[in-house]
Parts: sequence; C-alpha cells; structure tokens
Amino acid sequence: MLFARLSTVVTIALGTSLSNAALTKRVTCATGQVTAHAACCALFPVVDLLQDQLFDGAECGEEAHSALRLAFHDAIGFSIHGGKGGGADGSILAFNSTELQFHANGGIDEIIEGQFPVFQQTKLSAGDFVHLAAAVGTANCPGAPRLQFMLGRPPPRVAAPDLTVPEPTDDVTTILARFADAGFSPREAVALLSSHTVAAADVVDVTIPGTPFDSTPFTFDTQIFLEVLLKGSLFPGNGSQPGEVLSPLAGEMRLQSDFVISQDPRTACFWQALVANENRMVREFKDAMAKLQVLGQDTRRLIDCSDVVPQPPQLKTAITFPASFSQEDVQIACPQLPFPSIATVAGPAPTVPPVLGS
Ligand code: HEM
Repeated sequence: MLFARLSTVVTIALGTSLSNAALTKRVTCATGQVTAHAACCALFPVVDLLQDQLFDGAECGEEAHSALRLAFHDAIGFSIHGGKGGGADGSILAFNSTELQFHANGGIDEIIEGQFPVFQQTKLSAGDFVHLAAAVGTANCPGAPRLQFMLGRPPPRVAAPDLTVPEPTDDVTTILARFADAGFSPREAVALLSSHTVAAADVVDVTIPGTPFDSTPFTFDTQIFLEVLLKGSLFPGNGSQPGEVLSPLAGEMRLQSDFVISQDPRTACFWQALVANENRMVREFKDAMAKLQVLGQDTRRLIDCSDVVPQPPQLKTAITFPASFSQEDVQIACPQLPFPSIATVAGPAPTVPPVLGS
C-alpha cells in the first residue's frame, strides 16, 4: 500500500519535470542568442538599438528613468470598470499630441522626443516599444529587477483620457482610489513607488531641473524609502512649489505625494518595511510592474519574451543614512514595526547633485 502511494508520487514528480522541460524548450536565434520563443528573436536588435540610441550605452541615466515613468503614465490610463483608455498600449507615444497636453504629463515630452525616432526604426507596436524600453532602461540600474516583458500588444486605438495619472498634489485617498480603479492595492501602489529611487524632477520646480528624489538616483536601492522619512528642513530650489514638501538634503526634492503616503496609516507600515529590505522591494516592484505593463491587454495573446531583457548589474553597497543623519531624524509612522539599524556616512551633510540629461 505504502509502495503504491510512493510510486504515484514518483510518477507525478516525473510527469511535472517532463512537462517543465517541454515548457522551457529554448530557441536559438539567427543572431546566436537563445530565447524562449522564436518571435522574441526580433527583439534583440531592438534592445541594442535602445541601448545605443536612447540609453547612452546602457546607462541608468535620465532617459532610462523617464522610460520607466513613461510606462506608468501610459498604462495607468485604464480602469477595471471600463470607460478610460486601453492601458499599457503605447497610446502615450502614438497619440502624444493629445496626452502631452495633460497637466500630469509635464516633462514627458523629452522622452517622447527621444523614443519616437527609435520606435520608427522598429516594427513593434507602440505598446510593445514603450514597455520594452521601460524594462531595458530599468535593467541598466544596479539593483533593479529584471522586469517581465510580454510581446504582442496590438496598436492603440485611442488616446487615454485626461486625469488618470496621479498628481503629487493629490491626497492619499485620491491617489489610492485612482490606483484601485486601475486594479492596484495600496501595497502595490507603494511597491510601484520604488521607481522613485531612480528618479528626478524637471518640472515641479523649473528653476532646478534634474533634482533627484533620493541621494542615489542611479541605483535601484531602498534609499528613497529611508530618505522620504527623514525630517525635512529646506526646499532645494525656488521656495515651495505645488506638489513639493520640505526635503532633508540640499539638492534633493521630496514629493508631497511620496511623503503623505509614507505617513498614512493605510500605507506607512509597508513603506517602512521596505526601508532596508532590498530583496522584498525588488520582488514586490517586479510583481506590480508585471501587472502594470500588461494592463488592459489580452494576456492570452502575449508571448513571454522576458529573457531578452538584460540582466541588471548587482548592487554593491548597503543603504546608509546620509552624513549627519541618524534614526533620531526619522519620522516614524509605523511604531509597531522595529526600525532597522542603518549606518551613517561620515562627514558633513551632502548636497545631492542633479541628474543631467545627455
Ligand atoms: C502617486 C503616484 C505618483 C506621483 C504623484 C508621481 C509623481 C511624479 C512627479 C511629479 C515626477 C517628477 C516630474 C518632473 O518634474 O519632471 C515623477 C517622476 C518620476 N516618476 Fe513618478 N509619480 C507617481 C508614481 C510613479 C510610478 C508608479 C512610477 C513607475 C512605476 C513612477 C516613475 C517615475 C520616475 C522613474 C520618475 C523620474 C523621471 C525622470 O527622472 O525623468 N512614478 N513622478
């Protein structure tokens, strides 16, 4: 009897590994790269094109940051209740003359200008192009996850309507309601905000373009979750602008939306849980991005080409309190969670340099 049961287990296990082997069958492309599906082969030259012509040779610079922001602004134009746009369909690129007029898309014009000529050299749909560019740009940032990339979005049919992209002046209830309307939980919204670790603002205060949201805008680390919690004392540019609150560091901008989300009882504990947990942040961001980048799409028709996305470089350093800061400066909004122990960099408080475009 026991033997009979054991042999069933062995058969099931064998069956599973055989079907996994069938599922993971690989294709060698004419260019020599190996991928999961023949249709993905056409993407390797596009990845090279993006790295050469858009990302200055695989940098985690302004264009990579903006490509990630563009993917969000494209996809979020969607509602699970219907009546909004087509989601992750590239409408922001194809119908840019309409969508660029929306207030929340301020500053997006530069990346559209950069992407359009590259897009025209490919045979991809606008949606596939925008979301591949975001995955490749993000992969240039040390510490980032290798984002999923699904191929096969049809061309967008219409522009997204206005008022789907959250604004930094919005309150937490408004922001979470917009994310919920697009199908995201408060926790997924916070996970997506990990993106602000590789980010800077050009138009919140136009006198200081390229002002980063944390002191390490070229690495996908958890520094953003720490620095948004530090007591603010200054505005980096021309006084207080709409959507901006006091920042802890010269040269750094704190968005009002990031701050209120870090302090709100609905989101504060998850925010704090990510402060020194790189693996968790990367995992949760990757999962939420996988959902964002196929929003509104018929996923049964898409092909998983994630293996064309380059492997991101590893992070080499642990996060730190910027010089002169310590746990005493943290505005804790989740007292029930122990705050992690983090070392402080030696020396005087730094001034964070801007992220300059190429
Ligand atoms: C509450 C939701 C959000 C608000 C209010 C918000 C707001 C902003 C603002 C105001 C900027 C600066 C724009 C400028 O002045 O140039 C910005 C930049 C950025 N955002 Fe968000 N954002 C939100 C969520 C997201 C999400 C979900 C993502 C991606 C998944 C994202 C990715 C980025 C990136 C990468 C940048 C930097 C772009 C660059 O440096 O060129 N944001 N965001």
